[in-house]
Amino acid sequence: MLLCGPGVAAEPNYDESRVPAYTLPDPLVCQDGTRVTNARMWERRRRPELLWLFEEQVYGRAPTRPPGMWWEVVSEDRQALNGRATRKEVTIWLRGDRGGPTLELLLYLPNGPRGRVPVFLGLNFMGNHTVHPDPGIRIPTKWVPADRAGTVVDHRATAAGRGSMASRWPVERLLERGYGLATAYCGDLEPDFPEGWKLGVRAALSPAGTNTVFAPEAWGAIAAWAWGLSRAMDYLETDPRVDARKVALIGHSRLGKTALWAGARDPRFALVVANESGEGGAALARRRFGERTADLNRRFPHWFCGNFKRYNDREDDLPVDAHQLIALMAPRPVYVGSAAEDLWADPRGEFLAAREAGVVYRLYGREGVGVETQPPLHQPVGQFIGYHIRAGRHELTAWDWEQYMNFADRHLRRP
Ligand code: GCU
Repeated sequence: MLLCGPGVAAEPNYDESRVPAYTLPDPLVCQDGTRVTNARMWERRRRPELLWLFEEQVYGRAPTRPPGMWWEVVSEDRQALNGRATRKEVTIWLRGDRGGPTLELLLYLPNGPRGRVPVFLGLNFMGNHTVHPDPGIRIPTKWVPADRAGTVVDHRATAAGRGSMASRWPVERLLERGYGLATAYCGDLEPDFPEGWKLGVRAALSPAGTNTVFAPEAWGAIAAWAWGLSRAMDYLETDPRVDARKVALIGHSRLGKTALWAGARDPRFALVVANESGEGGAALARRRFGERTADLNRRFPHWFCGNFKRYNDREDDLPVDAHQLIALMAPRPVYVGSAAEDLWADPRGEFLAAREAGVVYRLYGREGVGVETQPPLHQPVGQFIGYHIRAGRHELTAWDWEQYMNFADRHLRRP
């Protein structure tokens, strides 16, 4: 089983009996020792403090919405997918003028229901054309990562890649269940390699451009991707067929980390799903199992902010941990999904973080995962904090999606 990639210094620990004891920071105790006793105190004091700590020490600070940002619907087909859906493509100019990088948002909206529909929004890894074989989807012209199947030539996408990631995006099933899908390629915001920022929003929005020297608390790639999800939301709020109060964020793996951070920062997202987001996402950093902070920083130095590098092999010094990230969603519903063979992401650490976030939901009289111990395979748990672990490897599967849609049905389909 290949769970850990190259460039990792220490051997990862996969032995539960070798996880040293650790103490988690209390979501309900402020940095000055004050105890949070109600939702108002959480919202006024502790939540902003935690958000600030995550920003400063982990993901880095992103700018606000650029003034004068604008978009254009560049294609619309009301008879897409054999008449089942309306497909739209929207170009969002991210710099506030007609130059600079754009986010190309792809939308499928079900033709069945009238009026506004709830929508799942998530970034994709390889380009919008990979989510469905639909020949009407435009092929990205930007840098894309090489793929094993050889559909990418010199980091440019080709038509051969159409639908290559379709197993992760059950478009027809979403439409059948009354959901729309909105997705965009993460590389529109920043291509995923250490120098990729020069081609993305982190350079475009900085006065120094590609000469920018980042401050230790400045945004990393995950923050840039998360920022882009908020820009997609800016558009969704204006789409006449989208119920913007019912937008569920979803992300897998590094994009699951991104979904959590985007959901934490932007309360417009009604629900957040983090599929196998692992270290730097839903998994507790203090638990020494699978990937560690140092692994993230060595292999993906561009993902997190400069300050985060201080915590290599020193996770206990981090002022925050993953349970507090999940708690930043409160009182909104959030779902953490794990896979049994995905030990690198520490499924148990993901469950424990989800469970420990529950104290904040309780301030609102809401129940979190509702169980003490990690449930068996394929038995989803949780009221406002959903959790499951399924058999198999690191992937976003149709079964995962069914659970996420069931969860969304419970929370977003009420009148
Ligand atoms: C690597 C990385 C993980 C990440 C994953 C992914 O395995 O170490 O932190 O979640 O890639 O994004 O698939």
